[in-house]
Amino acid sequence: MIMVGCSKADLTVRQSTLDPKGPVAQTQFDVFMATVWLVVVLFVLVGGLLVFAVIKFRSRPGDENKPAIVEEGHGNPLIEIGLITASIGALVIIAIPTLSAIWYTDEVPAEAIPTSKLSAWYPRVEGTRENYAKAVEEQVLEVDAIGKQWWFRFEYPQLGLTNDAKHSVPNEFVIPKGKAVRINLRSEDVIHSFWVPKLAGKVDLMPGRKNHLWLQADQTGHYYGQCAEFCGDSHAYMLFRVTVVEPAEFAKWVQAQKADAAPVPAANIKAEKGKALFAAKSCVMCHNVGGHFGAGAFAPDLTHVASRKTLAGAWLDNRNKDAQRALELKTGNTEASVEVDPATLKANLIKWIGSSGVAKDAAGKPTKDVKPGNRMHYYKMFNVAGLNETNQKFTDEELDCLAEYLLTLK
Ligand code: CUA
Repeated sequence: MIMVGCSKADLTVRQSTLDPKGPVAQTQFDVFMATVWLVVVLFVLVGGLLVFAVIKFRSRPGDENKPAIVEEGHGNPLIEIGLITASIGALVIIAIPTLSAIWYTDEVPAEAIPTSKLSAWYPRVEGTRENYAKAVEEQVLEVDAIGKQWWFRFEYPQLGLTNDAKHSVPNEFVIPKGKAVRINLRSEDVIHSFWVPKLAGKVDLMPGRKNHLWLQADQTGHYYGQCAEFCGDSHAYMLFRVTVVEPAEFAKWVQAQKADAAPVPAANIKAEKGKALFAAKSCVMCHNVGGHFGAGAFAPDLTHVASRKTLAGAWLDNRNKDAQRALELKTGNTEASVEVDPATLKANLIKWIGSSGVAKDAAGKPTKDVKPGNRMHYYKMFNVAGLNETNQKFTDEELDCLAEYLLTLK
């Protein structure tokens, strides 16, 4: 019954380590299965002997007259040496694939680097570690993943997509299919952990320390990731996504990310109002919108917020739920994805912005943040007129205008 819970048949399994879609996840899966089979053999052996002993030495009629405590035996060297040898053997059987997997998953191996001609076992390019490091730097796509409470910021230092350059990518990052990607992991606050069960993981993002991992996806699609280290109030809502596309499409995506937001169409009065509110109500202090506002560097970059399939640390899904479910059932995999649904996105924007920092609703009942403890909660710290303790809530009309503005940021 428990094993059925791990079944792939029910397509809700979006984060399954038992369904690897790349070489790193496959290697981790293989180590897991090697261990499982060895343990199954041990279980059958030990359990079998136990059952055998219970049946063979069970109480029989006439045993009442025998002494209650039987005479103890003293050591059988053959059995003892045999058991020690078998235990060592079992450990070696587990250790070999485990160590080779640790080696393999730690650093991009030579076979994933185009110019390398050398062995899979030891990462060498033209013989030296220095040349190997250089080849990794030049030929492997690097993505920096930065953990924040409670969202991920992704940067592509080689491609000029960084927070410093006002082009960072929150919560959803894109990589080309079939290419090794080195992920550099950092944290700007507490310890988080990077985990995309179908591709790779988990490795912690530590404050004051550089960690890394690498991954490669062999199928295009939409992969689900999750912070896997308790990091505060909204740890459970700290998700992320990896979108895997064909290389040509990846180049287009990079160009699109570097572009500024288009001007708000003059006819869109609500969006114009929303843009003014965005500036007036202090959103602009934390969020960057390329081409419109450039001060914010602390919170997620919103230049292309309306093109993203998720919101609020990937906790809110901007796709049509029924359409997505239907597509998953039709294609038979959870990596298939429908596009953003503007109506769902708008509802999510209103829910997200409207709930943050609002302790009580209009009727005076306590409300629940979409993400408890989130930093948007503290927008009143800027002491903006109209957002003080007693009157901090956006009106429905203001929320509508803000959402309309953000919807123009494709
Ligand atoms: Cu970040 Cu848990």
